[in-house]
Amino acid sequence: MGELAASLGHELNQPLTAILTNAQVAKRGLQSGRFDTGQHTEFLDKIVHNTQRASQIIERIRSFIRPSASRSEPVDLNLIVREVAGLVADEARSTKVRFVFSNNTEQMLVTGDSIQLSQIVLNAFRNAIEALKHTTQREIRVSCRYSNARVILRIRDTGPGLTPEALEQAGTPFFTTKTTGLGMGISISRSIAMQHGGTLILSNADTQSGGGAIVELNLPALSEANI
Ligand SMILES: Nc1ncnc2c1ncn2[C@@H]1O[C@H](COP(=O)(O)OP(=O)(O)OP(=O)(O)O)[C@@H](O)[C@H]1O
Ligand SMILES: [Mg+2]
Repeated sequence: MGELAASLGHELNQPLTAILTNAQVAKRGLQSGRFDTGQHTEFLDKIVHNTQRASQIIERIRSFIRPSASRSEPVDLNLIVREVAGLVADEARSTKVRFVFSNNTEQMLVTGDSIQLSQIVLNAFRNAIEALKHTTQREIRVSCRYSNARVILRIRDTGPGLTPEALEQAGTPFFTTKTTGLGMGISISRSIAMQHGGTLILSNADTQSGGGAIVELNLPALSEANI
């Protein structure tokens, strides 16, 4: 979500800056009487174009968040985990964070929308990478298993864990302890998990076992794959 917010901000900034500049130029042209109708039309056209562009960007974000946009197809959660780990690989490398995948590369099948499920994993990985900036041992341990017709994805980091306040509040929209966070990541992840008939639970590992945050995504397994 941080990435989504950052890219939304960046993308929106361009058309908005263009609208402002064009409106200012058109206004000055009007005041000085130096612009003819053609020039005014040209600047107004640019303003119309950039306004449409800004509203397209917002529409894209809304369609991502809107539940009705979701697809329903077999999704291999293990594959999603690896793909998303690939997406954040550069970031992980530059912050010296190591991924540890326990067990298998076996398919872990659920039914749902792969893009939306990727968003859950992406936010969890980003949260972990950010948390690990505060520690020397920097690992993200990922496991995925079948249990009672469910698929359970567990993402544990070796960071400081959630603060007591975050344990209570994480998932409340706009709750964040980060200066640049939007506080929407877990909230959106939870609603995606719920739409998929699942749950997303955050906790801290006990200090004896090294502490750190645990994110557990629990989804119904695809029926044919139920074990
Ligand atoms: N792995 C983690 N370790 C420690 N704290 C965490 C971890 N994951 C989440 N948190 C806490 O939960 C808060 C909410 O997380 P969430 O993903 O919803 O929002 P965010 O990361 O702050 O912002 P966004 O995801 O919208 O960019 C975080 O600000 C942080 O305090
Ligand atoms: Mg986040």
